[in-house]
Amino acid sequence: MTEPDIRKGLNGVVADYTAVSKVNPETNSLLYRGYPVQELAEHCTFEEVAYLLWNGELPNAQELADFRGGCMANRDIDEELIQVINFLPKDCHPMDVLRTAVSYLGTHDPEKFTTDVAHLQSIGRQLLAKLPTIVATDIRRRQGKEYIAPSKEKGFSENFLWMVFGDEKSPANIPSDIEAFEKTMILYAEHSFNASTFTARTIASTMSDGWSAITGAIGALKGPLHGGANEFVMHHMEEIGDPAKAEEWCLNKLKNKELVMGFGHRVYKKGDSRVPTMEAAFKKLAAEHPEKDSQKWVEMYDIMAKTMYENTSINIRPNLDFPSGPAYYILGFDIEFFTPLFVMSRITGWTAHIIEQFENNSLIRPLSAYNGPDERHVEK
Ligand code: COA
Repeated sequence: MTEPDIRKGLNGVVADYTAVSKVNPETNSLLYRGYPVQELAEHCTFEEVAYLLWNGELPNAQELADFRGGCMANRDIDEELIQVINFLPKDCHPMDVLRTAVSYLGTHDPEKFTTDVAHLQSIGRQLLAKLPTIVATDIRRRQGKEYIAPSKEKGFSENFLWMVFGDEKSPANIPSDIEAFEKTMILYAEHSFNASTFTARTIASTMSDGWSAITGAIGALKGPLHGGANEFVMHHMEEIGDPAKAEEWCLNKLKNKELVMGFGHRVYKKGDSRVPTMEAAFKKLAAEHPEKDSQKWVEMYDIMAKTMYENTSINIRPNLDFPSGPAYYILGFDIEFFTPLFVMSRITGWTAHIIEQFENNSLIRPLSAYNGPDERHVEK
């Protein structure tokens, strides 16, 4: 009998076509609908990028105004959802709150089984608008602070930072902080058939609904090998504590064959195309916030990157989570909220892929090779 060609983790398997984004590991490039992500991060707002991912083209001024207006109008969450959030344990992971909140919103959609593009875009638009409100509500209730209702005028990032921090020292009042946060949103928005997107597509492929697909994707993103890595990066950095200990810490991890989070990538083997943009934003933020002991994290970042590169046979490099972890920390977020911030961005990519899956659907159902016991019979 010939051995089946098993690709563990579907490594190297091309599962379908997509027109949403292209990752080229050879040239270290990531294109959203053809545009290099670093150009989008330089010249566009996150809302323009969301529009691009869902519609295939960047919006003109009128299209953008309509899109932003639609998003802003959807920012409120109802009193019942606030109660649902308040009912959940304060020590559960914030990704569990997000997963529950999205699932709750899905129960209120009478047309949820519609695969119509306009309806799917409306689910995406509602979540793009409401996820920041949900995350901010969860952050503040854990800190024993009052809920701040969303603004109907501020831009995406400014509104979110204001809902979270709300006071005069808020990053919402510092344009360069808003800019750095917005860059993370653009860089995290889309990345082809990553694990959570593939989960969303798999759920959509059963002709289930968009809410279920996104709820499942949140579960997949939570894992430390995927989105959860940005939290572990900062836990690692806190554990190291002192840049002088960073090299030895990394070498020990490598010697013990343990993972250093924020390094390596399933697709990029010569460096993650998003890292240079995010690294620059992180270092700029650090320089602007010396009061947060930020230089320490920059030094540690550089030593860890150098040590991992020089001491691995495949020259492992950082992925996007490595600079975004300490950037979120400097902005003032609690570590356990880093992955929910990723969700606020990746909702755009997930929605684009769910639409694409429905447009040309085929049930995703791979085969398995059985290696359990031979046929046997119940003896009673
Ligand atoms: N720390 C230490 N060693 C690592 C590593 C890391 N972050 N990433 C990969 N390696 C090692 C692997 O253990 C493997 O070693 P081996 O050959 O002795 O078994 C070798 O490098 C090659 O790994 P590779 O095949 O390139 O990894 P993968 O494609 O199976 O996994 C990840 C990719 C992302 C899952 C993996 O790099 C990882 O777990 N990184 C940490 C989590 C993370 O940052 N995730 C966010 C991804 S955007």
